[in-house]
Amino acid sequence: MTVFVRPIEKGDLPVVTRVLTGSWGGSTVMALGRGELVDAAALPGFLAEDEGQVAGVVTYADRGDTVEIITIDALVQGRGVGVALLDAVREAASARGAARLSVTTTNDNTRALRFYQRYGFDLVALHRNAVERARALKPGIPAEAGGIPIRHELELELALR
Ligand SMILES: CC(C)(COP(=O)(O)OP(=O)(O)OC[C@H]1O[C@@H](n2cnc3c(N)ncnc32)[C@H](O)[C@@H]1OP(=O)(O)O)[C@@H](O)C(=O)NCCC(=O)NCCS
Repeated sequence: MTVFVRPIEKGDLPVVTRVLTGSWGGSTVMALGRGELVDAAALPGFLAEDEGQVAGVVTYADRGDTVEIITIDALVQGRGVGVALLDAVREAASARGAARLSVTTTNDNTRALRFYQRYGFDLVALHRNAVERARALKPGIPAEAGGIPIRHELELELALR
């Protein structure tokens, strides 16, 4: 598998929306850690492709010194797509002089927690019951995943300088 990563362009809106809808039920997602809904399809990001087929999408928001990853989705898992997408965001964030990358995930997402920490992210905060508050804005957030109740948010950071 040869993963090619490029910035999302205007014409990618349908494919980005399709990927986000497949993973999160729509392009409007909770910006975890902020308690607000954002249209991730309108954000900057990168698209991973494998032989012309979309293999993954990452979107991010610029927050001053911090570049916050809003969504990251690998359509084929465990084949290097996620790492390639993180590399692209890290490079873009470093190029614009950001001090850190940040990302927030939920307590059930042990795969993502492993993935971020192995990449070099460190846990910086636990927001207890934040998902329960988020459900008031987005009632479609599932109650559990893999037998784990989805309740809390875990925030991680990667220092860039
Ligand atoms: C979390 C997620 C983005 C990780 O993406 P992924 O593509 O599975 O991750 P990768 O394949 O890049 O990395 C996983 C491992 O495979 C390894 N890997 C396998 N094949 C590889 C290859 N060809 N090149 C590079 N790395 C490879 C990576 O080094 C990494 O190894 P490690 O676990 O020993 O550290 C993905 O699981 C996903 O989309 N999950 C569902 C959505 C989600 O939960 N998103 C996060 C919300 S906060």
